[in-house]
Amino acid sequence: MKIAVVNTKGGVGKTTTAVYLTAVAREGGMTAELLDTDPQGSATSWAEIAAEGTSPLKFPVTPANKITLGRPSKCDLTVIDTPPGAADIIQAAIDAADVVVVPTAPSGLDLQRVWPTLEAAAHKPAGVLLTSAELGTKLLDMTKEALEAEGVFVFENIIGKRQAIRQSFGVSPTSFYGYRDLLKEIIEVTR
Ligand SMILES: Nc1ncnc2c1ncn2[C@@H]1O[C@H](COP(=O)(O)OP(=O)(O)O)[C@@H](O)[C@H]1O
Ligand SMILES: [Mg+2]
Repeated sequence: MKIAVVNTKGGVGKTTTAVYLTAVAREGGMTAELLDTDPQGSATSWAEIAAEGTSPLKFPVTPANKITLGRPSKCDLTVIDTPPGAADIIQAAIDAADVVVVPTAPSGLDLQRVWPTLEAAAHKPAGVLLTSAELGTKLLDMTKEALEAEGVFVFENIIGKRQAIRQSFGVSPTSFYGYRDLLKEIIEVTR
């Protein structure tokens, strides 16, 4: 199965989500890999820094392009991290994927970019992942309801705003927060 993590906006939690989802899959005994299509190589840097320290990532992070993306994978799960912007690499990642995850913070400004991203993914199962969220707030409930009122699928599992997640760049995740249940949900909705 291939999951593309996509949002034309930067800084919304794509790389973080891609790394955690792949880590969760490995931890659950799946073979998993992360394909990094971002020219800035944030996921690749994450892996390199982790490898220099004491806790290397337990899965390969491989740079990928439009051509290598479409190749069949030997892994149970392939997660594709994508760059921001309108590059055609985003479309290629969506086209290669079985399911598309669109992370966004639950704020109006961030949500604006969700629409063109979802349009690009209209031909695939796709859902919005609310992340960096202040759990239990009215804004969060309102955001979810507003998206659903427009017919958008919103994952039931929401990732809270956590200092520990922010600080985990460059280390192999050992706590998975909501990402374990999120991966389960993604696999279920894709069936
Ligand atoms: N759930 C979260 N809680 C707190 N900070 C987060 C969370 N998810 C991501 N971040 C932080 O937000 C910033 C942007 O995340 P990143 O995954 O790099 O986004 P993108 O890949 O979309 O640019 C990073 O500093 C990251 O650590
Ligand atoms: Mg990124």
